[in-house]
Amino acid sequence: MPSYCVVTFGCQMNMHDSSRMEEVLERAGYEASVDAEQADVIVLNTCSIREKAEHKLRSEVGRLGLLKQRRPELVIGVAGCVAQQEGERLLKALPQIDLIIGPDNIPELPRLLSELDRGGLPQVRTVFDVDEPSFLAATPTPGRSSATAFVTVMKGCNERCSYCIVPTTRGPERYRSSREIIDEIARFVDAGVREITLLGQTVNSYRDPSGALPPPGPGDENRWRHTRGALAQEDETEFPALLLAIAHEVPELLRLRYTSPHPRHLTSSLIRAHQQLPVLCRHVHMPVQSGSDAQLKRMIRRYSSAEYVERTDALKEAVPGLTLSSDVIVGFPGESDADFEATLALVERVGFVSIFGFTYSQRPFTPALKLGDDVSHEEKSRRLARLFALVDAQKEKHLASLVGGEELVLIEGHSRHGNLTGRTERNEIVHLLGEAAERADAPGAGALVRARVGEAFKNSLSAELTALVAPAPRVLTEALRRSSELAQAGATPRRGLPMIGATGSP
Ligand code: 5AD
Ligand code: SF4
Repeated sequence: MPSYCVVTFGCQMNMHDSSRMEEVLERAGYEASVDAEQADVIVLNTCSIREKAEHKLRSEVGRLGLLKQRRPELVIGVAGCVAQQEGERLLKALPQIDLIIGPDNIPELPRLLSELDRGGLPQVRTVFDVDEPSFLAATPTPGRSSATAFVTVMKGCNERCSYCIVPTTRGPERYRSSREIIDEIARFVDAGVREITLLGQTVNSYRDPSGALPPPGPGDENRWRHTRGALAQEDETEFPALLLAIAHEVPELLRLRYTSPHPRHLTSSLIRAHQQLPVLCRHVHMPVQSGSDAQLKRMIRRYSSAEYVERTDALKEAVPGLTLSSDVIVGFPGESDADFEATLALVERVGFVSIFGFTYSQRPFTPALKLGDDVSHEEKSRRLARLFALVDAQKEKHLASLVGGEELVLIEGHSRHGNLTGRTERNEIVHLLGEAAERADAPGAGALVRARVGEAFKNSLSAELTALVAPAPRVLTEALRRSSELAQAGATPRRGLPMIGATGSP
């Protein structure tokens, strides 16, 4: 059997695409390589959101090129955003590459590989499936399931944020039918998954292409709409209706999250869904990018800082204890000291408990290119450090406020130090201690437990396990036991090199 290895750079969407590539390859008779460097096919699933991410690809291809000198039959494939963005050009720049495949062409991977096998020329396939959008269904295999999983609800992006390459690399928005989404979630839950994160570039702009979701009922009026004027009603998103349908049709699901929402689609219907659905976690990651109205305008974000604050205030008021995290870009062209101070003020006002902070990086094909890049590298780094210092202090204060209280923790596995580890619904990492957590028959991954928080660290909590609320699903326990037996016997394939390049603050 030929063997493969998929290496993932970048975001959750890429991790998700990598899993689909692995499934497609396995269905076509490939097996995961025990040693990544020995694989017959190595696919680099790339990210181009910032220039640094693209550099990583170039150095990785260089490294693999050396491997290929020793093993000329090695197939080097490049997938993901750089593949889509560069296409044939990449082949010219990096001739070691045999295959370039865009995110919408994953199902064609085995065909392209067999073309190569038959002695074909390097293959390039980067076509968006705009006319007939398809979403590869995940195949939750009990042996591979964990307590949490991602489910794609939409792909592409119709926003035109002036700094962002995603509309170029991922194409226009296309939505998956609500039936497919709900069925996939149900399959994951049957395989033992307890927590689902819905994925999409602007996940809350979702609309059901099949028209199966119920329209908003009387009294579901919206205080905020993402489109002003006459179009507002028709243009309402169906994301809240999707959340309701999931909660209704898969009641066994313990936790539901989504990422990443766009602030302009944080409508009152979505806030109402948070109020109505206990399954929705009390944490939302909502990218704000800047706190300066002038910069938000230049970024084409289509909301003001006051709107962001007003809407997140309403969400926090509706859902007590809800926390927020965000993405922020520092040093976007024209960012003055005062603009940056406005960002810090907003970060403090909203009280984010964590942040992914980025220094602005010019990207090809983006409207912001014409604005130049006038904030110096040193100034960008200084601003980023100040941003992280502020958020770290907020995070520390928040974590300290939890000491002495009780939390519900969904166990995900063991930490490097051997402690049982899980997350609260606000996504705080919790290391479980105490007799009940250390016994041989302690609850395993997928169990929901109650725990008393004893100590707060920089990025996590430790807590004493006090009660089992819901045991781990049997199917998950058995699967994990089997895979740990296999691992002990040295038989588990290494399923790829580690994920590379997730950026931002811890
Ligand atoms: N430069 C820096 N950060 C960027 N992001 C997107 N494009 C750029 C860019 N050109 C950040 C945004 C986005 C996150 C995924 O990456 O904060 O929310
Ligand atoms: Fe990029 Fe803006 Fe779309 Fe997010 S919403 S993917 S930042 S264009």
